[in-house]
Amino acid sequence: MKTILVTGGAGFIGSHTTLELLNAGYNVVVMDNLRNSKEEALRRVEDLTGKSVTFHKVDLLDVEGMTRLFTEYSFDGVIHFAGLKAVGESVENPLLYYQNNLIGTINLCDVMGKASVKNMVFSSSATVYGDPQTNPIPEDSPVTFVNPYGFTKLNIEYMLRDLQRAEPEWNIASLRYFNPVGAHKSGEIGEDPSGIPNNLMPFITQVAVGKREKLNVFGGDYPTPDGTAIRDYIHVVDLSVGHLKALEKLETDPGMVTYNLGTGKGSSVLDLIKAFEKATGIEINYEITDRRPGDAVQCYADPTKAENELGWRAERDLETMCRDAWNWQKKNPDGFPSDRV
Ligand code: WQD
Repeated sequence: MKTILVTGGAGFIGSHTTLELLNAGYNVVVMDNLRNSKEEALRRVEDLTGKSVTFHKVDLLDVEGMTRLFTEYSFDGVIHFAGLKAVGESVENPLLYYQNNLIGTINLCDVMGKASVKNMVFSSSATVYGDPQTNPIPEDSPVTFVNPYGFTKLNIEYMLRDLQRAEPEWNIASLRYFNPVGAHKSGEIGEDPSGIPNNLMPFITQVAVGKREKLNVFGGDYPTPDGTAIRDYIHVVDLSVGHLKALEKLETDPGMVTYNLGTGKGSSVLDLIKAFEKATGIEINYEITDRRPGDAVQCYADPTKAENELGWRAERDLETMCRDAWNWQKKNPDGFPSDRV
């Protein structure tokens, strides 16, 4: 049975991927610093799967702690989610992002190399496409960064590429997520942002559950059919399954590969609101306000490469994403409780 280390495995995508790994028969060890997550998510993954997850509270900047993990366990691969991911916070505090995301990943790769663990699936982001001029977006589209968070994602990709070129025994899959939303159908795990949500779907579900008075729609004057910005929303379970397909791909010694994980369908902000209202029967109070600086007009994937090379495609539609996101939120109005004592 293969053993996988999941960094950031207590987080939104990390916990959903841990669940899929367990159901697929992997042993899973999770390291997470619990800065933006709760261990409770892993306890619920154990309840849902009937399997155990080994958890270690370890930070990417704790080289000794990571070294101990790679001494204690014999990992077959690493899925690397751990990292800070709030665009606004990255603009306010860039050094925090450069230190945590860049230096943290360098630390991880160094510890992996010394332990001869050279298979990695990396959590990248469609943010590396900036404000794309053409959609849908294939992987060979121009890349850039429009904020320090995006700078770290793109430069980690470059670092991993250079590492793999220098040491060809490394096999690395970089997965560029579009907009992950939704939750496991049980409603037991889901997206649990701290404070006021930056992202659209958790803000909608908090309006629906009565935690927020109304949704501000950032911009109604974009050059799109209904004037609101377009994104590629993808169900978090589809995204998680994509990680298992990427892990399998590493077994064919692919070197360094990059895939877009998106549905290939663009949906506007108003499309998502309508889909949510249709899926749940709940009307969302919203007001169209000014554009949010830095937002792209349109950003949706061409997922052909992942379909052809990973045998993966997103299966869940927008209404399912909304229904599952709402199921999580209504069962957990305040997100995960504080960790069990
Ligand atoms: C989606 C659309 C907003 C909130 C970011 C990161 C990306 C990834 C996902 C980490 C946009 C609009 C939003 C609100 C709104 N994160 N919106 N009112 O900006 O596409 O991507 O999150 O990996 O890297 O860049 O996602 O959900 O913030 O916004 O109108 O209260 O919803 O303007 O058009 P985004 P988002």
